[in-house]
Amino acid sequence: MTKILVTGGTGYIGSHTVVELQNSGYEVVIVDNLSNSDIQVLDRIEKITGIRPVFENIDCTDFMAMTNFIEKHNDIKAIIHFAASKAVGESVENPLLYYSNNLFSLVHLLKLMQNFKISNLVFSSSCTVYGQPDELPVTESAPIKPALSPYGNTKQIGEEIIRDTIYANPDMKSIILRYFNPIGAHQTAEIGELPNGIPNNLLPFVTQTAAGLRKELKVFGDDYDTPDGSCIRDYINVVDLAKAHVIAVQRLLDKHVRDVETFNLGTGRGLSVLEIIKTFEEVTGVKVPYKIVDRREGDIEKVWANPVYANNVLGWKSAETVEDTLRSAWAWEQKLQMNRKNSQN
Ligand code: UFG
Repeated sequence: MTKILVTGGTGYIGSHTVVELQNSGYEVVIVDNLSNSDIQVLDRIEKITGIRPVFENIDCTDFMAMTNFIEKHNDIKAIIHFAASKAVGESVENPLLYYSNNLFSLVHLLKLMQNFKISNLVFSSSCTVYGQPDELPVTESAPIKPALSPYGNTKQIGEEIIRDTIYANPDMKSIILRYFNPIGAHQTAEIGELPNGIPNNLLPFVTQTAAGLRKELKVFGDDYDTPDGSCIRDYINVVDLAKAHVIAVQRLLDKHVRDVETFNLGTGRGLSVLEIIKTFEEVTGVKVPYKIVDRREGDIEKVWANPVYANNVLGWKSAETVEDTLRSAWAWEQKLQMNRKNSQN
């Protein structure tokens, strides 16, 4: 079996990707420091796939621990690097945490790839690198805009670090995946997003409000230059997103990548905040109380992907409808609440 190292493999996108990798016959080893995830995710992955991935609690910035881990697993053929801090607001308050976590871990990983002759890297980037694009839908060749947060900057710098390293090391190859807004959960409702404290992102806030955990959702602005005045995003199903990683890994292993390739992973369709709320209410039959408040600082007005390059080159396309994706998010939230109640009794 081909062994793949997944950093951040117990996180939201990481755990869904581990499931898809295992279902496709790869052997997965995970390192994660559990800073924003739960060890029980391993049980859930095992429940879905019948296989418990190898796991070690390691912080990717710990070069020695990572070296020891990779020495033990000296047959790793590719790395998917998810492990990173991802809260935009927190990154503004504590930039050095973001620069050290996100960039040290990446530099260390690339050094380890050199040391241990691991050729293939899939990197989690974000549509945040485009800022507010001049043209929509946005393609991969759109100019990179000044980052609006230290978090966004770590993705831009991360991409540059990878490109420079790959160009200097002809044996190394990378696929950079720029995610739009991942939402939803696995169809089994065994894994999903586990926000820490008050959610920053729209969907967990919507589902927690629907579940009665939050009084109301704050819609950040209805005076944008969009049809209903609220911001527009490209919401992509997390399982669809996970599947793109499996394709990317295989493309690297098949030696189809010359040096670095960069792909947008989105649906190609933009939806407003108010459309998401309305659709969620329609498909679940549950009301989401909300109120319009001021704009959130740093928000982009509208962004959605042109996914044609990924469609053509990776042969990947988002498959799930937003309706089914919202249903999956709700099923996951309900399961979380049920588990919480059971553990209290
Ligand atoms: N929103 C609300 N109320 C909330 C939360 C969000 O109205 O309580 C709105 C936001 O204003 C935005 C939309 O919902 O218009 C989506 O917001 P998210 O926070 O879910 O997602 P963002 O698009 O702001 O952020 C995402 C990723 C980041 C990434 C960024 C790049 O979470 O990692 O895209 O634009 F940096």
